[in-house]
Amino acid sequence: MNILVTGGAGYIGSHTCVELINSGHEIVVVDNFCNSRPEAVSRVKSIAGSDFPFYEMDVRDEEQLGRVMEEHRFDCVIHFAGLKSVGESVAKPIKYYDNNIGSTIALCKAMSKHGVARFVFSSSATVYSGGNVMPLTEDAALGCINPYGWTKLMCERILTDFAAAEDWSVALLRYFNPIGAHESGLIGEDPSDIPNNLLPYISQTAIGRLDKLHVFGDDYDTVDGTGVRDYIHVVDLAKGHVAAVGYCAEHTGVEAVNLGTGRGTSVLQLVAAFERMSGVKVAYDIAPRRAGDLAICYADPSRAQRIFGWSAEKSVDDMCADAWSWQRQNPMGYRE
Ligand code: NAD
Ligand code: WQD
Repeated sequence: MNILVTGGAGYIGSHTCVELINSGHEIVVVDNFCNSRPEAVSRVKSIAGSDFPFYEMDVRDEEQLGRVMEEHRFDCVIHFAGLKSVGESVAKPIKYYDNNIGSTIALCKAMSKHGVARFVFSSSATVYSGGNVMPLTEDAALGCINPYGWTKLMCERILTDFAAAEDWSVALLRYFNPIGAHESGLIGEDPSDIPNNLLPYISQTAIGRLDKLHVFGDDYDTVDGTGVRDYIHVVDLAKGHVAAVGYCAEHTGVEAVNLGTGRGTSVLQLVAAFERMSGVKVAYDIAPRRAGDLAICYADPSRAQRIFGWSAEKSVDDMCADAWSWQRQNPMGYRE
């Protein structure tokens, strides 16, 4: 298929571009580099061993989007482009609503005009409200506690309504906690600031860019008192998108689908796995709980298995080994 990938220079987008090309798809990538670097696109091309058109542009620019849609005939759009920092979204909510919802609406309009009827959307487990029983099925109660989460839930709503009106096929992919990197170590997660997420914080501590990890709370009702999450290897996640594209080609309507492993890992278990796979000791202290954190969050991934024929294959050890390989080969990310 011919696929437009928005945000393809970013962490999940870059890994997905590699898997799409490996699976025989033709891609066109757009990104405005607001949270990524051109080097990521070059590296995707070198891993995949093939070239593809790239446009540096804001997805909200309807005129430019129209030109891209006129130059290429697309069968499907995968929309990664979006801002994702929970804390920043609380401080700058309009920036988040404008970018995340504005880009989705601009795409819907352009797709409708150009007869593109398949949409794969980057949603998040953050759309599930607290108080659900684990594991989370797609039918669990929805609700958010920060603007970032609301942008995802609102986009899900917009796409659901649009799909019904236009007879589209839409996959709302709810990611759990993507970590790790491509096995080549050439592409990986490259936070532009001090990381908010656990694994990049661990690996930047291990490489010496940060002094020590702060473990947010050790008094939860979990295996060792620290928070439990469903970490998924980013390459497994990328393959989930390839499966979703295949599904959309054969079905119409909307499906919300969890992309997770169904397994929970605590903060200290992840630290231990990282130390084992890297051979480096990770300094940490115990800090107060972080506001808004759940004790435990993990997926029921059975719908993805049933309708996409996809399930995650890689272990937490694989995730740590690959994250470390990326960090060791690129201590400053793409900046060098
Ligand atoms: P990322 O920041 O690495 O990638 C997003 C990319 O989109 C970046 O390259 C950025 O430059 C680009 N972008 C943002 N706004 C744009 C715009 N208006 N026009 C053009 N390009 C734009 O983030 P990621 O981790 O790869 O996440 C990809 C998507 O998945 C995001 O929508 C994010 O909200 C969602 N998501 C991420 C996670 C996670 O933990 N990483 C979890 C759940 C959902
Ligand atoms: C994981 C665990 C922390 C950092 C976030 C977003 C969510 C989604 C994925 C986009 C928790 C603990 C963390 C640190 C720590 N993103 N932790 N010290 O909060 O599950 O999800 O990223 O959609 O929307 O909220 O991921 O990696 O921040 O935290 O102890 O320095 O690690 O308390 O238990 P989270 P995370």
